[in-house]
Amino acid sequence: MSGAGIGRLQDALLAWYDRHRRDLPWRAGPGESPDPYAVWLSEIMLQQTTVATVKGYFDRFLARWPTVADLAAAPLDDVLTEWAGLGYYARARNLHKCAVAVAAAHGGRFPADEAALLALPGIGRYTAAAIAAIAFGIPATVVDGNVERVVSRLRAVETPLPESKPEIYRHAEALTPRSRPGDFAQAMMDLGATVCTPRGPLCMVCPWSGACAARLAGIAAELPRKKDRKPRPTRYGIAFWLERRGARGREVLLRRRPEQGLLGGMMEVPSSPWLEGPTADGWSHAPAQVPWTELAEPVVHVFTHFRLELDVVKGEVGRAVPVDGIWAPVASLGDYALPTVMAKVVKAARG
Ligand code: ADE
Repeated sequence: MSGAGIGRLQDALLAWYDRHRRDLPWRAGPGESPDPYAVWLSEIMLQQTTVATVKGYFDRFLARWPTVADLAAAPLDDVLTEWAGLGYYARARNLHKCAVAVAAAHGGRFPADEAALLALPGIGRYTAAAIAAIAFGIPATVVDGNVERVVSRLRAVETPLPESKPEIYRHAEALTPRSRPGDFAQAMMDLGATVCTPRGPLCMVCPWSGACAARLAGIAAELPRKKDRKPRPTRYGIAFWLERRGARGREVLLRRRPEQGLLGGMMEVPSSPWLEGPTADGWSHAPAQVPWTELAEPVVHVFTHFRLELDVVKGEVGRAVPVDGIWAPVASLGDYALPTVMAKVVKAARG
């Protein structure tokens, strides 16, 4: 398409954004300048998590740590606790590492440069581009899942994902304006979230419908095509809910997971290793030799690469029995950094 054609597309989308943009807590209002710290924090949180979920977390983080220096000075454990429930805990560790790096190496200011952003912990290609465009007005090309959908429809990219990624990126790059690149990127995201939706796109209200090649071909709702993914395997394990009557009433045994690996460093209800196929020796991982009673229903949680079924069993020990871990009052489990799967175990077992 000609340069003038692209200019018209840019103008139409930005005009649409000025009328229909979503009001999100990390966005600067018209005439305000964006806070790079808020932009970075929101972009890290929004990876693999919905806007609706992120809002509350974002507000709590910003209230507790108003600047990147405050976050850098916070103990990692406090950050993990505040992050609990957002998932992908390596992101929370990198978030903290990145804050420390910005405070130490950049004098508490995020660098206004895509390559320097990319060098920071936890900042990949997408996030570097998003911060560069949204916080600093640099015409970087920002491509997330929403943008992939919008662009593959606009240009009728029929190659399935992920093979089509380089092609989509080139189209997105050609569309990126020199002026208002941050608004443009967020306009594509909002368009993807509210109009150019995965199923049943609302083409009647789309500012790009006249130019949309997929719409003209009658295949908008079919794009982007995706290569069949292998179904997720199921893993199985046993979660041991062990209680005692402690000084603080009912107490339950928790322990910290190893730093490396899935949910690294998070607290958990002790569980057997999570393995594919039924395992005979799950019981050998019980934290105490006591009679266990099994809940009727397993707890099911879906991770990126597998689905987990945890049988939850309950037992009780006397106060003096030594076990590995810490005793946490059942009434104040909210103070612990429990990942979502463990919050489900608590809900099922606490009674
Ligand atoms: N998803 C990720 N970043 C976003 C943003 N800045 N606005 C809307 N949706 C988003």
